[in-house]
Amino acid sequence: MLVCIPDVLDAAQLVSLRERLDRAGEAWVDGRVTAGYQGAPVKFNRQIDERSEVALACQRIVVSAIERNPVFISAVLPNMVYPPMFNRYGEGMKFGAHVDGSVRIHPHDGRKIRTDVSATLFLTNPADYDGGELQIEDTYGCHSVKLPAGDMVVYTAASLHQVAPITRGTRTSCFFWVQSLIRDDAQRTMLYEMDGAIQRLNQTNADEIARRSLIGCYHNLVREWSET
Ligand code: NI
Repeated sequence: MLVCIPDVLDAAQLVSLRERLDRAGEAWVDGRVTAGYQGAPVKFNRQIDERSEVALACQRIVVSAIERNPVFISAVLPNMVYPPMFNRYGEGMKFGAHVDGSVRIHPHDGRKIRTDVSATLFLTNPADYDGGELQIEDTYGCHSVKLPAGDMVVYTAASLHQVAPITRGTRTSCFFWVQSLIRDDAQRTMLYEMDGAIQRLNQTNADEIARRSLIGCYHNLVREWSET
């Protein structure tokens, strides 16, 4: 699955995040501090120290936004969310092709989080930089993603992906992983499509008994497939 979610952050939240990140100073560290042996040789960017005060403040803004986003909930069916991280690519920086590590250790409580879904929340408008596309490969080919500030893409963490080199400007983003209630990408995708169909039927006042049956099937499938 690859789902683009518009307007995850509003203008005020974007301003608040950007101000905090612009003032972060020494909290910006080499992105390789959290890269594994596969990612480190190809990762050239900066990121916010995930234990810093600024990281905690920015995480609160993002988490409260995604918790209220119905498309995120429907597409990802989150169980555990890794605390959002923040990165920045200046001119010439990039992140070569890699697959995200399968398990992350929660930086605050040490829990293990299986990374089923990867998320990138764009914080810079595309007009302000060139290059920097997030290029994601799946069974349907390579998808190049560059979204307006405040929009987010979620995609299966099993995908090979890269961030193209920046040729002008600076690209600041938020990224994180989610352990989903539904581990299997194909099952999660079917549930997302089914939920979308139910929402459409609800809006058109379709036959109530059929809708009730379909909603029941949706929840029973979640019950059948989910793990907590
Ligand atoms: Ni990655």
